[in-house]
Amino acid sequence: MTADLAGPGAATAPPWLTSMFERDDVAGLSLPPSATCTFHGRTTSAAAARDFTARTLCGWGLAGLVPDAQIVVSELVTNALRHAPGDPADAPPIRLRLVRHRFHIGCGVSDASARVPAVSPWSDLSESGRGLHLVEALTAAWGWILTRGGGKVVWALFDASPTS
Ligand SMILES: Nc1ncnc2c1ncn2[C@@H]1O[C@H](COP(=O)(O)OP(=O)(O)OP(=O)(O)O)[C@@H](O)[C@H]1O
Ligand SMILES: [Mg+2]
Repeated sequence: MTADLAGPGAATAPPWLTSMFERDDVAGLSLPPSATCTFHGRTTSAAAARDFTARTLCGWGLAGLVPDAQIVVSELVTNALRHAPGDPADAPPIRLRLVRHRFHIGCGVSDASARVPAVSPWSDLSESGRGLHLVEALTAAWGWILTRGGGKVVWALFDASPTS
């Protein structure tokens, strides 16, 4: 883990993660293993993201990461559906990508909006503004990458070292 990934709030993505989300042709042999799933803005998308995450992580022998990763992908996919402005019928699909890189798992959810996440001040009374606090608590780091097409990827990183 590099120093700029530590601490609260959005972080700068490590280069290996950025390169995975900036390109579509990720099938090359030299690239880290990854799996991608797309969603078309349906109310069942978060559930589908949780299923996809469980299947992928179990396939990589990382069943222990599944509960935390499912919460995080659920929050990120729900945010992309709710907060990325535009007509969902016209927008490109939301895409979830999981990447395995050495002792880290990266996940990223892309949407077509350049509007970036904004962590809300914590309040015991508020009924919203909790999702990114959960992401912050359950991941080693998180942040976003603005992409060339005018959208973004909100990403999160999990420690998958053998001792974690
Ligand atoms: N993908 C996104 N695109 C644009 N804005 C976003 C995105 N994700 C989050 N945001 C912004 O960041 C804010 C905080 O997100 P967060 O998930 O913490 O809370 P929430 O979605 O408003 O409520 P909750 O997750 O508790 O239901 C959102 O209200 C929204 O303004
Ligand atoms: Mg949310």
